Amino acid sequence: MLRMIGNTRIPAVGLGCMGMSEFYGETNDTESLLTLQEAYELGYRHFDTADMYGIGHNEELLAKFINGGSVKREAIFLATKGGIVRDKNDKYSISINTHPDYIRTACEASLQRLKTDYIDLYYLHRLDPSIPLDETLGAVSELISEGKIRQIGLCEVSAEQLQAAHTIQPIAALQSEFSLWTRDPESKILPLCEQLGIAFVAFSPLGRGFLTGGIDKQFMDNAKSELDFRKKIPRFNAENIDANFSLVKRLETIAQALDISTAKLALAWVLAGSPNVHIIPGSKTRKHLAANFNALHVHLAPDTLCELNTIFSPEVIAGSRYPQKILDHSNA
Ligand SMILES: NC(=O)c1ccc[n+]([C@@H]2O[C@H](COP(=O)([O-])OP(=O)(O)OC[C@H]3O[C@@H](n4cnc5c(N)ncnc54)[C@H](OP(=O)(O)O)[C@@H]3O)[C@@H](O)[C@H]2O)c1
Repeated sequence: MLRMIGNTRIPAVGLGCMGMSEFYGETNDTESLLTLQEAYELGYRHFDTADMYGIGHNEELLAKFINGGSVKREAIFLATKGGIVRDKNDKYSISINTHPDYIRTACEASLQRLKTDYIDLYYLHRLDPSIPLDETLGAVSELISEGKIRQIGLCEVSAEQLQAAHTIQPIAALQSEFSLWTRDPESKILPLCEQLGIAFVAFSPLGRGFLTGGIDKQFMDNAKSELDFRKKIPRFNAENIDANFSLVKRLETIAQALDISTAKLALAWVLAGSPNVHIIPGSKTRKHLAANFNALHVHLAPDTLCELNTIFSPEVIAGSRYPQKILDHSNA
């Protein structure tokens, strides 16, 4: 299944590379590079990173893959992001800066780390409400004129912000969280993306691993808090996780009846959300790459979609998708 991002037609399943640098437990660069290579061989073309993942480490890893010799730069679609500033003293504290000067500096630093001349899709990772949107987009459009960026993306903005931005500069993609347990984009954002011809790139389509059935209370009790960001997310808290896990059990039952994995069912549901949807499931190892890519070929019957919509009705999800301090930076 090929779908458009701006003027590029690519497989609707891309690879989320964030976990190769941090947030979901231990990392291993050797395995990450093998994962990137195998993903390419399986047909993945869209690779998603950001300057903040591992504070530059994730982009440097992608540079090793791109410049390793076995992949032509033009053969892959490279998406990165700027605009989130990490606090070096507090792993989970961030601020937003979309001042035109900052975005130019951040983008040029990404190009250097990625060791490439151009970025296929450059996202503003969040919007700084104190900077007028037209000023930030003006800086991004200069980067396009200079050939440093091919297309513009936004992350976690509201329908109103997306529409306003698109009247200033063509927006190729919006990246926001979308999965069975995060259905906020369904009401306004997905129809607007279809209307404006904007690709919707769903991040955390597996609910950060939760919608695969592989994460329960015991998993979270064992996770090392300093390495696993999920420890900070209310949905994974001791008080919420069992209620949420009971929904995943029902997902597992449906997947078994369809003879597919729980993860594949969760991904196919996201892809069915709109013809504009792309998914970027995250994998730091080779284990799940093929299965996730093959979610492209799963067609879910209307009855199954309906049943899943009922089970994962937004009001039954226990806990919020981010800690409040991070949610405050989102308008999605
Ligand atoms: N724009 C933003 O603000 C934003 C925010 C978050 C993420 N993102 C992007 O979105 C990408 C994907 O989101 P995500 O990584 O947060 O969450 P995700 O894709 O929902 O889940 C990733 C987790 O699921 C596990 N997993 C993947 N496939 C599996 C399978 N078939 N069976 C069992 N477990 C499986 C992974 O483990 P393994 O690694 O061991 O396979 C990993 O722990 C990120 O990598 C990043 O590029 C963007």
